[in-house]
Amino acid sequence: MEGKKILQEVFFKCRNSIYPRSSNISRFPVPDDKTDWRIHWKEYNPAVYTDSSVFGKPWADGDSDDLKAQWNTLDGKVNRVSYTGVYNIVDNLPQNPMGRTGLRGRGCLGRWGPNHAADPIVTRWKRSELGTVIKSKVDLPILQFVAIQRRDCKEWAIPGGMVDPGENVSATLLREFLEEALNNLQQSHAEAEETLKRFFSKGIEIYKGPVDDPRNTDHSWMETVAVNFHDEDGSVVAKLPFQAGDDACNVRWMDLNSDIQLYASHKDFLQQVVTLHKASW
Ligand code: BGC
Repeated sequence: MEGKKILQEVFFKCRNSIYPRSSNISRFPVPDDKTDWRIHWKEYNPAVYTDSSVFGKPWADGDSDDLKAQWNTLDGKVNRVSYTGVYNIVDNLPQNPMGRTGLRGRGCLGRWGPNHAADPIVTRWKRSELGTVIKSKVDLPILQFVAIQRRDCKEWAIPGGMVDPGENVSATLLREFLEEALNNLQQSHAEAEETLKRFFSKGIEIYKGPVDDPRNTDHSWMETVAVNFHDEDGSVVAKLPFQAGDDACNVRWMDLNSDIQLYASHKDFLQQVVTLHKASW
């Protein structure tokens, strides 16, 4: 399965928990050895839950009864293709290729099947005031990335977001960074926007595939493309006027090390970035 290798084989953030943004929707308990759909499990009987916030929204699908989607393909402008390959349709609904989550329905996700996101990972070296790169105890340079705090769950995360219907992933990466980390630059920063556009034209793909997102259900799940944009001498990002906006309530440079706690699968992506740049972890 493409991209999956950097993530743990079995997801855990989308199992055995109270569903996010609900106070009482419990998932049917799914032990690690029962996630795989190929394992017959006749007692499996999860609740069906779709959050009221997604009903009737222009960015969301209709309910399961009046759903006329084209699965595993581009459906009009909506991308219903999974990076994992062809997913199964069971009882007219897509089946999460990463296995059982303990909940049916769509939860608070807009789409049945894959919901596509994009994650821009902007990095630089940590430097002293004099500009020297700071090393850790193991004598390796410390990498930092632009982190935002999500407004919904308050967890720190990469400033990523959903790919709009018909939008290119590269456009989403830039748009989300502008919205969440730069609060959409003001007119007076037109130059910074040009610099950023050039900087975002050279990224390295870190991951492409499904992610362990707490919103996933048996029928709806998150997939993402995570791309690293590295500023080797720190000159590009130094000019950017960071300010949280949209779904983010805080923004800052965060040191990368194995103790960081981040939303969904973001820590796995960052570990990969650290390996790429031979930085300290
Ligand atoms: C977030 C992305 C994240 C994706 C999957 C999106 O809502 O904005 O940063 O990777 O969900 O968890």
